[in-house]
Amino acid sequence: MKGIVFTEFLNLVESKFGLEMVDKIINKSNLESQGAYTAVGTYEFSEMLQLLQHLSESTGVSIDDLLMVYAEHFFKVLVDSYPGIISAYKDPIEMLSSIENHIHVEVKKIYPDAELPTFQIIEKSGELLVMVYKSSRAMYYFGLGLMNKTFEHFNSSAEIQLEKIKEDGTEVKFIIQKIS
Ligand code: HEM
Repeated sequence: MKGIVFTEFLNLVESKFGLEMVDKIINKSNLESQGAYTAVGTYEFSEMLQLLQHLSESTGVSIDDLLMVYAEHFFKVLVDSYPGIISAYKDPIEMLSSIENHIHVEVKKIYPDAELPTFQIIEKSGELLVMVYKSSRAMYYFGLGLMNKTFEHFNSSAEIQLEKIKEDGTEVKFIIQKIS
């Protein structure tokens, strides 16, 4: 997992819960990196899982909710860091249906070792997008947060339903209905 995911995560934890919480969750975890991340480095995904687990235990917020809130913050980081990628789009459904064949393709050029999910489009119209998320990391709530923010970015809104195809969340169907 790329360092930018860790550095931005710890920034958000600091701003929401304070520096003591950052220290606490790093100290409780068994991290090869020792919790010292650089944006361009690459680290084990298991480090993110441990940090999330300990933040969840310390705050009582579920890992799913933490991932969704984190994704909403991360979207802003993406817009600021890669304005060129997002400015190619005028519509949220167009953007979300292009993650697989454009957006994450560009990400791979920037970070060849990025570990990205796949999104398979099942159905697409002007108002509806059905796609299947697949990733061994099961970060579908992170995807949900990014999708919510994508609609907000275009002053639009949507009702997004999740259906787990695999119980462990490594395959999840997203049914995305644009409502305005
Ligand atoms: C992960 C970039 C848009 C879904 C990531 C990662 C990067 C990235 C750098 C981390 C990869 C790693 O740690 O190795 C971008 C950029 C975007 C964008 C630059 C737009 C400009 C989106 C959108 C979605 C999305 C709109 C909506 C669903 C995900 C998910 C992951 C991810 C779910 C977590 C990894 C996983 O589930 O396996 N993306 N992304 N991304 N991205 Fe994107």
